[in-house]
Amino acid sequence: MSEPAMLELSDIIKQYRVGEQTVRALDGIGLRIEAGEFTSIIGPSGSGKSTMLHLLGALDSPDSGSIRFQGNEIGTLNEEQQSEFRRHKVGFIFQFFNLLPTLSAWENVAIPKLLDGTGLRKAKPKALELLERVGLSNRAEHRPAELSGGQMQRVAVARALIMDPPLILADEPTGNLDSKTGAAILELLGDIAGNGNSVVMVTHDMGAVQYCDRVITLRDGKIGSNDRVERSARAERDTDAVVDDDSVRA
Ligand SMILES: Nc1ncnc2c1ncn2[C@@H]1O[C@H](COP(=O)(O)OP(=O)(O)OP(=O)(O)O)[C@@H](O)[C@H]1O
Ligand SMILES: [Mg+2]
Repeated sequence: MSEPAMLELSDIIKQYRVGEQTVRALDGIGLRIEAGEFTSIIGPSGSGKSTMLHLLGALDSPDSGSIRFQGNEIGTLNEEQQSEFRRHKVGFIFQFFNLLPTLSAWENVAIPKLLDGTGLRKAKPKALELLERVGLSNRAEHRPAELSGGQMQRVAVARALIMDPPLILADEPTGNLDSKTGAAILELLGDIAGNGNSVVMVTHDMGAVQYCDRVITLRDGKIGSNDRVERSARAERDTDAVVDDDSVRA
């Protein structure tokens, strides 16, 4: 038998009922996502992208069909099992960063460890190491309001990594960034995937597709296309953008 995929979905149906009306947000989705892949999900508004990301992250369950994560069914977990799964297996990155304003950058990175019962002091070395990885070691004590948008998103990327989750889910991670800053975040997500994680990103940004290994399009809750993008076909990129902070070094 072949290795289980990082994620394998078959015949997923997800409906929402509002009053008398039923909307079929996902209508028979089947797909496989491998470890090490950077996948983007694109499609028009209302096509089911966020719904799909919620199911992949066990934030919600399908009405029918199966979602296997490393071979184990996650579509039928109860709420407690879902939150356990999310805490250890998934890192989330959001469009609006979702940082806590009163905490410093490194404290924000450490939050998932705190929620898992690790003290702040014990979590600090790893938080600092991750800030270094995203090119922000010189901003560890800054609060979110003292950071640029791209820097805030890098803090959020570091936070998503602190539990060493095999799966990173990102909903419009470049939606609030200019194109150069966004490119640095996409580069970083590509590197993370290259290290054996799977990264799945929902995006409206067609330019983001060139950073991905796989592009899935959704239309009316169905898969329109699912194509592998060869790395060699990607545009030449400025890799310095990730680590080259825009700050003035003292
Ligand atoms: N909580 C909900 N209750 C009822 N209907 C919902 C709910 N969430 C989504 N829907 C419906 O399901 C469909 C898919 O929604 P979804 O949010 O997945 O779309 P999307 O592709 O993420 O769109 P966008 O690009 O605008 O974010 C839409 O028709 C939407 O109206
Ligand atoms: Mg959405």
